[in-house]
Amino acid sequence: MTDFVPMTARLVAKTAEGDRLDTLHLKLNSDQPFGFEFGQFNMLAIPGIGEIPISIMGWQDDCLLHTVRGVGRVSDAMLALPEGSTLGLRGPFGNGWPLARFEGRDLVFITAGLGCAPVVAAINHAVTHRNRYRRIVILQGVKHHQDLLWQAKYDAWRDMGDCQVLLAASEEQKRKYHWRLGMVTELLAFAEFDPSHCAVMICGPEIMMLSAIPYLKQRQVADGDIYLSMERNFQCGQGLCGHCQLGPYFVCRDGPVFCYPDVKPWLGVKGF
Ligand SMILES: Cc1cc2nc3c(=O)[nH]c(=O)nc-3n(C[C@H](O)[C@H](O)[C@H](O)COP(=O)(O)OP(=O)(O)OC[C@H]3O[C@@H](n4cnc5c(N)ncnc54)[C@H](O)[C@@H]3O)c2cc1C
Ligand code: FES
Repeated sequence: MTDFVPMTARLVAKTAEGDRLDTLHLKLNSDQPFGFEFGQFNMLAIPGIGEIPISIMGWQDDCLLHTVRGVGRVSDAMLALPEGSTLGLRGPFGNGWPLARFEGRDLVFITAGLGCAPVVAAINHAVTHRNRYRRIVILQGVKHHQDLLWQAKYDAWRDMGDCQVLLAASEEQKRKYHWRLGMVTELLAFAEFDPSHCAVMICGPEIMMLSAIPYLKQRQVADGDIYLSMERNFQCGQGLCGHCQLGPYFVCRDGPVFCYPDVKPWLGVKGF
């Protein structure tokens, strides 16, 4: 189904998360139920300015949560909107993480920077339905420890006692409590999971995915147990314009979550 007519949503509240980084609380101006899968995205629009894909971070108090980093024309304008503003919203689009298929397995989440946004809702789901999954391992990398979004969530997951939470800071000078120095991929050496019975979900820069995969291969994780959330430049968000092509796929329609073997030939290849 294609739909280019956006719904409208009211910006009920904004939570400051960091430098040029806010979580928008959007209440749909519609009584229709809004179902979504963790890992899907919406196209958010400001009339007269533009439209961008933003991952669905969660649902709270009848509002959709979207965490937006200001990097350019549309995202900066979005952060400048006052509470009470109206945005356009199309979605949800794309494929999310197939969490039901992962039941009974160990879950390993590997994220870097804002890559945690599409994964946070999946982690919340897994910890809320703790008995459906075996071990839960959460690995997150940032440049400096103060760049970590949602510190309280990571603390709460660690405090549960049955989630392994490992954090890495790549540009920190001195090791801090709970933190390792280095890249998120180096944390894999300390991750406690059963490689023969796991699902690995990776979200972040493609270069990080490419360096995580050899570590996972060393641990004997099968290619088919690795899932990646890919990013490309989206325009239509619905598989029509071709802007987000990746080999034979359109990332907006066939992704953004892919099983690794499906995209392996095109990962990190210039021009794709
Ligand atoms: C599936 C998906 C989910 C996303 N989820 C989020 C999210 O939860 N939060 C969030 O803040 N952003 C997210 N993004 C990225 C976001 O869509 C871009 O930052 C946004 O489109 C930039 O538009 P702009 O007009 O603000 O910047 P522009 O003026 O278009 O660009 C500013 C700079 O950002 C670069 N850029 C533009 N688009 C992207 C992109 N897709 N990836 C990397 N760099 C880009 C440009 O090359 C340029 O250097 C997601 C993207 C995709 C494809
Ligand atoms: S953004 Fe148009 S086909 Fe994907």
